Amino acid sequence: MPRKDVVFFLYFAAWFVVLENKGFFKQQEVVLTYHRKVPKTNTNHGQPKDEIQRNYNISHTYANPEIISSNCSLTVVMIEPKLTEQSLWVLESAAANVYPLHRTCFVIKTSICKVKQELQENSNITKSITDQYAFEQVAYSIKESSIAHPKFLEAINSGRVRMNVLDYEHYDLKSCDNFEGISKLFLNHDFWGNKEYLEQDSDFILNLQNDGIICRPFYVDNWREFAYVGAPWPPKTYLRNEMPDSWSRFHDGNVANISFPLFPTEDEIRTKHEFGPVGNGGISMRSRQWMRKATRYCPTIYSGLSEDERKVAPCKGNLDNGFLEDMFFATILRGMGAPLPTLFEASLFGTELRTPNEFLDVYRNIDNGTQEEFTAKRWYSPYTEIGPVELYREMQESNMFTVSLTFHKPWIFRHGVWETPHTRKYCPYFQYILPEKEKNYTTFSK
Ligand SMILES: *[C@@H]1O[C@H](CO)[C@@H](O)[C@H](O)[C@H]1NC(C)=O
Ligand SMILES: *[C@@H]1O[C@H](CO)[C@@H](O)[C@H](O)[C@H]1NC(C)=O
Ligand SMILES: *[C@@H]1O[C@H](CO)[C@@H](O)[C@H](O)[C@H]1NC(C)=O
Ligand SMILES: *[C@@H]1O[C@H](CO)[C@@H](O)[C@H](O)[C@H]1NC(C)=O
Ligand SMILES: *[C@@H]1O[C@H](CO)[C@@H](O)[C@H](O)[C@H]1NC(C)=O
Ligand SMILES: *[C@@H]1O[C@H](CO)[C@@H](O)[C@H](O)[C@H]1NC(C)=O
Repeated sequence: MPRKDVVFFLYFAAWFVVLENKGFFKQQEVVLTYHRKVPKTNTNHGQPKDEIQRNYNISHTYANPEIISSNCSLTVVMIEPKLTEQSLWVLESAAANVYPLHRTCFVIKTSICKVKQELQENSNITKSITDQYAFEQVAYSIKESSIAHPKFLEAINSGRVRMNVLDYEHYDLKSCDNFEGISKLFLNHDFWGNKEYLEQDSDFILNLQNDGIICRPFYVDNWREFAYVGAPWPPKTYLRNEMPDSWSRFHDGNVANISFPLFPTEDEIRTKHEFGPVGNGGISMRSRQWMRKATRYCPTIYSGLSEDERKVAPCKGNLDNGFLEDMFFATILRGMGAPLPTLFEASLFGTELRTPNEFLDVYRNIDNGTQEEFTAKRWYSPYTEIGPVELYREMQESNMFTVSLTFHKPWIFRHGVWETPHTRKYCPYFQYILPEKEKNYTTFSK
């Protein structure tokens, strides 16, 4: 039985890789039309000269004076070779909801190679289009396409958005405009350090993809104490076994001194409000310091660390086929004793496979008072009128499900609740990333 469970899990994980890649690169129909206004003969330092004034306000660094002097309160990271209309809605949901708004920064890690190639093909100048020129065209297009996304446009105009071209070769991703193999990026020690982040960027970052949305205003300080926050996974036996088994494998079975913390029983979760598997990486908050610690403690072949460095590490990340970075960090961080939210708290942050109510159904008897205590702590915001508990009660009274702060393509596991007044009320931006066919379901379900 346990073997079967493990097999199921691996199948499940591998399936996820496929979905992940599809979602990441192909799901979106509307790709931003990059600006290709290249006049015939005018040249400017050998480059085509645009009629447009290139006030794109996105460069490699932040231009906002307050950010320069006092840093970002949170850096939001989007890794996407080709931004789409949907990407902009995801960014808009963050720009509108991550407080304090005026101190939230954005970094877009993207590609310019295709744009550069197209510009060259469409241009009559003999000189080569430079990277800088292509970069500016992409930046300008992003700004132009953000007209319909006022909060993100505001972030652009105020100099809180920067962009860089992802060094796909360094991370061994598929190609300059196809970031397939994205887990390798997250498993690389360098990805969490100065190669990718500036002095102004926060240690605690919010990672976004095209298929995750921020539902409501949320206050980052409520979560900063943690190493990693993501939507929890259901703590079924297979998942419980998979994590300790991997931990043991990573330590070559020699885990006498460093045994994996036991997963709490349901009773412990109920009475001590314990941990569960946390969690989904697609929309997650992470401490970069902890990511660096974890990638050094248990380096995988993708860590980018030298063989010598890997040899002295206490743990070796011998990954299975189909092993994903979020499962890896969920295991390592838990094993290392990193601060992680409890199952219920993590469910208040994000929904992927289960809603917060469904976790409560598994762990009955987390009483109303305790639920409200956690809600008060994690949903508190000095910037909103309605209090966290009031909001929580309102959702309970509606007899619908609790809408967490973020959604990561929850429609894959459950149909029928996403295109409802309830979801629209508590997660207004969600409709912009919900696939058309999901809008056909109107069943109300808890
Ligand atoms: C390039 O030159 C050809 C021939 O003069 C012209 O037809 C075409 O429109 C030009 N293309 C661009 C992008 O200016
Ligand atoms: C900004 O962050 C850097 C480190 O990333 C730190 O050295 C500096 O003191 C911070 N500045 C402020 C004003 O907090
Ligand atoms: C954004 O661009 C405009 C137009 O070039 C410029 O006036 C403004 O100062 C820029 N904003 C920042 C924060 O650099
Ligand atoms: C466990 O502790 C013993 C004695 O302190 C030490 O010799 C051994 O290497 C440790 N094993 C691991 C896996 O750390
Ligand atoms: C939870 O407790 C609050 C007050 O403590 C109460 O107003 C609310 O109705 C309770 N909810 C349920 C579902 O019992
Ligand atoms: C929507 O639902 C109806 C009735 O169940 C079905 O006939 C139709 O094919 C569905 N449309 C889509 C786009 O899924």
